[in-house]
Amino acid sequence: MRIASRIENLPPYVFATVEKRIAAERARGVDVISLGMGSPDLAPPKEIIDALYKSALRPDTHGYAGYFGTPALRKATAGYYGRRFGVELDPDTEILPLIGSKEGLANVALAFIDPGDIALATDPGYPTYRMGALLAGGESFPMPLTREKGWLPDLGAIPSDVLRRATLMWLNYPNNPTGAGAPLGFLKQAVDFAAEHDLLICYDNPYCDVTFDGYVAPSILQVPGAKEVAIEFNSHSKTYNMAGWRVGVAVGNPAAIEALATVKTNIDSGIFRPIQDAATVAYNGDQSWLAERNAIYQRRRDVVLDWLPRVGMSADKPLGGLYVWARVPQGQQCEAYALEMLEKTGVWMTPGTAFGQFGEGYLRLSICIPEERLAEAGERLSRV
Ligand SMILES: Cc1ncc(COP(=O)(O)O)c(C=O)c1O
Repeated sequence: MRIASRIENLPPYVFATVEKRIAAERARGVDVISLGMGSPDLAPPKEIIDALYKSALRPDTHGYAGYFGTPALRKATAGYYGRRFGVELDPDTEILPLIGSKEGLANVALAFIDPGDIALATDPGYPTYRMGALLAGGESFPMPLTREKGWLPDLGAIPSDVLRRATLMWLNYPNNPTGAGAPLGFLKQAVDFAAEHDLLICYDNPYCDVTFDGYVAPSILQVPGAKEVAIEFNSHSKTYNMAGWRVGVAVGNPAAIEALATVKTNIDSGIFRPIQDAATVAYNGDQSWLAERNAIYQRRRDVVLDWLPRVGMSADKPLGGLYVWARVPQGQQCEAYALEMLEKTGVWMTPGTAFGQFGEGYLRLSICIPEERLAEAGERLSRV
């Protein structure tokens, strides 16, 4: 047996490794408080679950559900983008439902990266941006995000020889892991830049409806002309507490959507119909519960921000997302510190380097656990 070099050169997915490590600690009897993954711990509203159940009871919803998503889900996506962002989308050519947005993030690389091509990826950033490029036989080039620059990439700093080989540019705001938002002015600059350098912008927007302090996150498709150069990924995972259901969507440039669909039709066979029916209800239904849900996350965020200084760490207030991006105590390396804290306190925090080399010096703390447990994590850490 010979495993392909493309896999041998790929590091294991960091959260898969961590999941095993935490399971081992728990098996040893440690009461681990994991501030690791951004997996929403609250349930979707009953009407969404009812829609799943009702659809699953039907005898005709268990076969292959089609490659391009149901017309009803595509129409509901268009309705949501119209109401939420004022963005008009053609349900037939500009919308493609996905088996969770991560599936689309990886598959779009197969559609746009040939060996030798480069994906520009924000660093720190969601690992799939880099890994998708590697899986496709290409490379990724990091665009550093720093506090000084408001966690936005400096597009002017990308070397011209890199730009010549680049086909994709990844952007993600509200940003995982930093929690920063991107002003529309920056998105406009990015659209102009992509047009000038013949790039496809992949705008990853799963946290657009998980925001705090009244912040309303934009879609890149609000920028005039964005549809010429961009697709946007969105997801039910974080917005509707449906991470395990696996349903997301790609929207925007029709040629890019078609290329992604060509990859997908050769790899998967669509989304389970009852999940699509429930996802349709989620988009069409009353959205007012999201404000209450976000208030819960905001309180959790504030619990963490409150104890960070007591444990020698600090962070900017995140505008959105499910994380606090905290500076490690001075003089510490993030990975060694995270492992030391797991060992000494049973609290797991993700080292910033899991998101790329420019994550050094930071830890990402997820707020997907109840306030009491977040407070207990702070107490345990402050005892060290
Ligand atoms: C920035 C970002 N993009 C995409 C995803 C993938 O979301 P999903 O595949 O559940 O839609 C995540 C999940 O944590 C994320 O943080």
